[in-house]
Amino acid sequence: MIYTIVGARPNFMKAAPIHTAFARAGIPHAIVHTGQHYDEALSRVFFDDLGMPRPALDLGVGSGTHAEQTGAVMVGLERAFAADVPRAVLVVGDVNSTMAAAIVCAKMGIYCAHVEAGLRSGDWSMPEEVNRAVTDAVADLLLTPSADADRNLLSEGCAADAIVRVGNVMIDTLRAHLPRARALEVAGRFGLREGAYAVLTLHRPSNVDEPATLARILGAVAEIAGSLPVVFPTHPRTRKQIQATGLQEKLERAKGLVLCEPLGYLQFLSLTSGARLVLTDSGGLQEESTVLGIPCLTLRDNTERPITVEIGTNVLVGTNRDKILAEAKRALAGGGRRGAVPELWDGHTAERIVAAVAARA
Ligand code: UD1
Repeated sequence: MIYTIVGARPNFMKAAPIHTAFARAGIPHAIVHTGQHYDEALSRVFFDDLGMPRPALDLGVGSGTHAEQTGAVMVGLERAFAADVPRAVLVVGDVNSTMAAAIVCAKMGIYCAHVEAGLRSGDWSMPEEVNRAVTDAVADLLLTPSADADRNLLSEGCAADAIVRVGNVMIDTLRAHLPRARALEVAGRFGLREGAYAVLTLHRPSNVDEPATLARILGAVAEIAGSLPVVFPTHPRTRKQIQATGLQEKLERAKGLVLCEPLGYLQFLSLTSGARLVLTDSGGLQEESTVLGIPCLTLRDNTERPITVEIGTNVLVGTNRDKILAEAKRALAGGGRRGAVPELWDGHTAERIVAAVAARA
């Protein structure tokens, strides 16, 4: 059996097309869930929306410190793999579960492929940057989304024949589900018209865990919301911080700002695909905005996805109020970047992943 390991929200939309492609190729494949994310809205709804089968195994590790979470995934997977040795394991993205699974495979001599290999922000204060570098250092096969990723891996000394550029697997999911998502017309449920609102997501520890930074970003967003309504599906980490720092009331009073629970895949895609502007600190949303041709302001100083800035619709605006407001104004005045779609982000990445793994494992 070949397993794909998923743990947190951004993993599910990457695993879904991989599972389908293995099934089409007649190769036994199953999903293993670490349980890093466990809330209905962050986990189960994605399996339902994407038509993914229930995981063959759910470790149920839950939340904790980085060491607790990483350690629990490693213990659980080591036990599972000892009882039932996989033909190969795929890990996706850059969450703690990704790195934990890759290390277990390396120690047990199990062939491991990393999907979304080679992305680097150069920012070692991001837990994901550590996860990315460690995962790539120990994985056998490095499946990359873009040429910058290939270059990063080669410059770190990875063997050229371990690197295969396959494109962006998350875009397979976006292309497959866009018509269904559009038909949901989720904006209307918020009383909004297509093209007449912005969408905000915010969950990076560096943006939400420091009260002054969180207040500054949300202050700028509230100003934007005064002229363009902003829908803000709020990650649990961020919601806790908003409540703990007393920002809740202020945000509720802000005209045009709509806070809601995290949305499922289809509902969220419906919302973003009709937006005039996206504001985010997510990695995946930078890519999705580029493919949808919607201007994206990334609330970070760096990105591990530079191609979205070079040829896509993404602009790095950091967390400075004036910069956020100036770039939002520019995008709304029509100067937002239209951008182009990177090569191989064509909806067929999962087939290339399956071909690469099947040829080697
Ligand atoms: C994790 C990933 C991050 C990814 C994000 C997407 C790491 C290091 N971080 O961040 O890369 O962009 O997922 O959402 O792997 N919580 C819930 N319900 C859940 C899960 C978490 O309420 O189902 C709350 C808990 O308070 C938890 C906190 O969110 O302590 C953080 O969860 P965690 O999985 O540690 O990291 P994320 O911030 O979600």
